[in-house]
Amino acid sequence: MINIRVLKNYNELSSTVADIVEAQIKEQSKLVLPTGSTPLGLYKELVNRKLDWSLILTFNLDEYLMNPDHPCSYHSYMKKNLFDRTNIYPDNCHFPFRPTLSFEDKMTLGRRIDLCILGIGTNGHIAFNEPGSSFKSRTRVVNLSLQTIQDNSRFFDSIEDVPKQAITMGLRTIMESKKIVLMVNGKHKLTILNVAMNGEIIETVPASILQRHNNVEVYYCD
Ligand code: GLP
Repeated sequence: MINIRVLKNYNELSSTVADIVEAQIKEQSKLVLPTGSTPLGLYKELVNRKLDWSLILTFNLDEYLMNPDHPCSYHSYMKKNLFDRTNIYPDNCHFPFRPTLSFEDKMTLGRRIDLCILGIGTNGHIAFNEPGSSFKSRTRVVNLSLQTIQDNSRFFDSIEDVPKQAITMGLRTIMESKKIVLMVNGKHKLTILNVAMNGEIIETVPASILQRHNNVEVYYCD
């Protein structure tokens, strides 16, 4: 069972998690970063704080199988919302790629991930680990569920434009991070959040694996 910290509003969610990231940025850290609508406020806040990202390495959780230069790719999202607005070195920003083993090697080379920030999908996915993903999974290509395609179609011109496949860190990969912070925004996610944090630890609810991690913080606002 994981304690869910309820915050007053989206601004407080963003600034609370920004404080955690900022503390980590004062060291030479390896961060895992999410996309989606939830972390937009966090990235805005981090940009405003004008931090020194020059020693930071980042690894994104996932990417669609699509041209990385496409405006809806997670590469483009990260450039637009964070990377191009800080002094981070582009070579220090990593996205999952093939061969997936090389990506994992890069991530684990030297030392473990210090901090992994996550969001949650309405079906309980973390990164693009859809319901049914193995708890032992590592970075790999996956098929997106219909639910995820529908949820994420709001970022595309039409649902047909949403890629059907993605490349994602696995659940085991994520669990190897030293610390995990889960950000959740919106009442529509409260039911799945409670199931994942307080219910059975089961592969049909991918986020439930977080109950097995010894350093997880969950922040929610509606
Ligand atoms: C996508 C991402 C997830 C993210 C989820 C929730 O599916 N792959 O990493 O957690 O969206 O996104 P949102 O914050 O927009 O609800």
